[in-house]
Amino acid sequence: MITRLENPADVAAIHDVTISAFKGHPHSDQTEHLIVDRLRQAGTLSISLIAEVDGDVVGHIAFSPVALSDGSKDWFGLGPVSVLPAFQGQGIGGALIRRGLDMLRHQAAAGCVVMGDPDFYQKFGFRNDPQFALKDCAPQYFLVQPLSSNPASGIVTFHPAFYAGVDQ
Ligand SMILES: CC(C)(COP(=O)(O)OP(=O)(O)OC[C@H]1O[C@@H](n2cnc3c(N)ncnc32)[C@H](O)[C@@H]1OP(=O)(O)O)[C@@H](O)C(=O)NCCC(=O)NCCS
Repeated sequence: MITRLENPADVAAIHDVTISAFKGHPHSDQTEHLIVDRLRQAGTLSISLIAEVDGDVVGHIAFSPVALSDGSKDWFGLGPVSVLPAFQGQGIGGALIRRGLDMLRHQAAAGCVVMGDPDFYQKFGFRNDPQFALKDCAPQYFLVQPLSSNPASGIVTFHPAFYAGVDQ
């Protein structure tokens, strides 16, 4: 298994992997593939990594900029992250998350946030932090990982690509 940045030839496979990963997922509206497409179209897919096995795309992770109400810059949101069902539980999702976080550190990102299963994301250094909040998200499912010593706090807003077509 290798991880690498996406290239234009991967776009259709990323679409398919994302649909397959979230199919039937209880906390999904099965539109995550559209979020990835919209982020790419908006030029805000800051990091898009794929996992490849024998030349096939089996996993994908996206990172995109988020806004903080205190004006802090260089914060990013993790997601969606997807691994084909047949390849889950083999360390691929974890490898994508770690590599993505490493890339954020190398580009001097200030921090990263994620919405999802706390038991899963705590494995990768994310923590609940009452100094941060995400609208319409229960606090236990919103996790934060500072990547610099710059103080930050406030309401976090993901890129509009996450909300297109959703009544707010
Ligand atoms: C979530 C997902 C990306 C994880 O990818 P994966 O390749 O299966 O994960 P890994 O094998 O790298 O697992 C990494 C660690 O997380 C654990 N883990 C995996 N899924 C977990 C879950 N749902 N809850 C808690 N822990 C989980 C693994 O046991 C492993 O722990 P370990 O390192 O202590 O052994 C993948 O299961 C997936 O695509 N799921 C459907 C889409 C989804 O839910 N995306 C995330 C939305 S928030």
